[in-house]
Amino acid sequence: MKAIVFAETGGPEVLALGDIPKPGVRPGAVLIKNHAIGVNFADTRFRQGTYTVKPKLPDSPGMEVAGVIEAVGDGVTNLRPGMRVAAFTSRAYAEYCVSPAFMVIPLPDSVSFVDGAAFLIQVLTAYHLLHTADSTGPGRSVLVHSAAGGVGLAAVQLAKVAGARVFGTVSSDAKAGLATENGADTVINYAREKFADEVLRLTGDRGVDLILDAVGKPTFEEGLRCLAPFGHLVLYGRAGGAPDPLNVSVLSPKSQKVSAFSLPTLTRGFPDKTRESAERCFALMREGRIKLHVAKTFPLAQAAEAHRYLESRQSTGKLILIP
Ligand SMILES: NC(=O)c1ccc[n+]([C@@H]2O[C@H](COP(=O)([O-])OP(=O)(O)OC[C@H]3O[C@@H](n4cnc5c(N)ncnc54)[C@H](OP(=O)(O)O)[C@@H]3O)[C@@H](O)[C@H]2O)c1
Repeated sequence: MKAIVFAETGGPEVLALGDIPKPGVRPGAVLIKNHAIGVNFADTRFRQGTYTVKPKLPDSPGMEVAGVIEAVGDGVTNLRPGMRVAAFTSRAYAEYCVSPAFMVIPLPDSVSFVDGAAFLIQVLTAYHLLHTADSTGPGRSVLVHSAAGGVGLAAVQLAKVAGARVFGTVSSDAKAGLATENGADTVINYAREKFADEVLRLTGDRGVDLILDAVGKPTFEEGLRCLAPFGHLVLYGRAGGAPDPLNVSVLSPKSQKVSAFSLPTLTRGFPDKTRESAERCFALMREGRIKLHVAKTFPLAQAAEAHRYLESRQSTGKLILIP
């Protein structure tokens, strides 16, 4: 089968289209014919060898797909060939992938393959940041960094659905427009303005209740400066580098909380909760209360282009590969 393979870690140029054996189905897993493949920022880190999971070279990137089940392994009773599904997986940049049955989510007819692949990691990350890591609801204020990105746009919309006041940060005016269209109450261009000063000004020096931070080094300390008393900062990525170590005592004067979040904690350890949240988000999509923004689709062979675009900070919403 065709797959994107890299034999050494490095820049996008290490990604090449190759031929590798089609995987076989194994007990407890399903074989999926991929129709759409989600591109995630973590794939770029995996390619560089700087992600928590290290490549076993030669390897293929990719963590999520939508497609049709071609075969089910021994012991799989809740899924069958022909079902349309989205799945958390590995080596997804290919024509087929294998996924453990407990990491497969049936797709409603109303959700296309492209939306299925766009939805899984980014929408569920946003959902669980707001509702599992925290308890977002009416009267709370949330600051979403990179608010026009994949997780960011989903978080802005889901925080509004929950009734929160939403602040977003972005690095360009074009992105600011998109975050506003998707419901952000205030969007700050943090390439131009000090976002903490602006948040403090707009909240009468109180700050926000929740900060969703996947940028890291450039935003973490500034975030603490505009976090309200009893506020919560969740670090869930480090697109701009890892923040400096934190002396927890700096949180005491305002009784603040800092935590970390990783979606695989849920998808691997709490499959029922993962499915339940997926169904809740599918319902919100059906009702038109959240919309997926697929900025670009690329043929599988152009995976390197997709990575270049994502790392350039120009991309918005979701990027998809079509095998
Ligand atoms: N913990 C988890 O389970 C989990 C799950 C999914 C994603 N994530 C993390 O969430 C973040 C967003 O992921 P995504 O796939 O939705 O990507 P994305 O937000 O669509 O794209 C990455 C964005 O990060 C921002 N950014 C800030 N500093 C950057 C830098 N130095 N280089 C490149 N980009 C930079 C850019 O937006 P601006 O220019 O507007 O800042 C860029 O558009 C990533 O850090 C990812 O690792 C974590």
